[in-house]
Amino acid sequence: MKGIVLAGGTGSRLFPLTKITNKHLLPIYDKPMVYYPIQTLVDAGIRDIMIVTGGRNAGDFLRLLGNGKEFGLAHLNYAYQEGEGGIAEALAQAEHFADGQPICVILGDNLIEGSIRPAVEDFAAQREGARILLKEVPDAARFGVAEIEGDRIVSIEEKPREPKSKYAVTGIYMYDATVFEKIRELAPSGRGELEITDVNNAYIREGAMTFSYLEGWWTDAGTFESLLRASNLVARARQAQPAEAVAR
Ligand code: G1P
Repeated sequence: MKGIVLAGGTGSRLFPLTKITNKHLLPIYDKPMVYYPIQTLVDAGIRDIMIVTGGRNAGDFLRLLGNGKEFGLAHLNYAYQEGEGGIAEALAQAEHFADGQPICVILGDNLIEGSIRPAVEDFAAQREGARILLKEVPDAARFGVAEIEGDRIVSIEEKPREPKSKYAVTGIYMYDATVFEKIRELAPSGRGELEITDVNNAYIREGAMTFSYLEGWWTDAGTFESLLRASNLVARARQAQPAEAVAR
């Protein structure tokens, strides 16, 4: 399976922090934000990874990450998104890289405590369709929200006023090669973007969407509150590490 990190966008909710740099280069505790989603993919056994970015700071990713040596990778791939057309449009830049293979996509501002390896393995066994990761949250209205009936997701609503469940759709998505056809069929949303939630609803309509629940904490880092929370969660996890190692 190939991995794709989406690290474009204007990061307007973090102005002025993002006035002169890309959101995904901002620090989360002791590392730039984009390190965490890359590590998540690497920890799941994914070694063929593309970073999709854009804007004026795209070159900084190459200077920062190079060939991915810090992650034990032999090489990294890069693509450039022109304009700010949304998450699904950013993903469309990776079609050539995906080359018909299944992909695991992660938003560059999504941090997790645990591992996505079990979900990645389940998706590899599934062979087609899509799989998303859900997390119970207290503030579902900030996210894409899954409406669940039995063991099926029946719809996803993007930032609903009245969420139909407590389950946020995290920014970790697994897709078969039909994702790129689905993106081509999308129309821009009210905010003028191609929405990843519309891609996921296309899979749901086909009866081809499965899901896993994500274990451990999950946070995005695209607002001042979540940026701070992400740093605090990582700091706490780091501080807990030596104690755990001793206990073992
Ligand atoms: C995006 C997606 C949303 C998802 C979230 C996860 O929202 O549109 O469905 O729940 O990422 O981080 P955004 O961060 O662009 O507002």
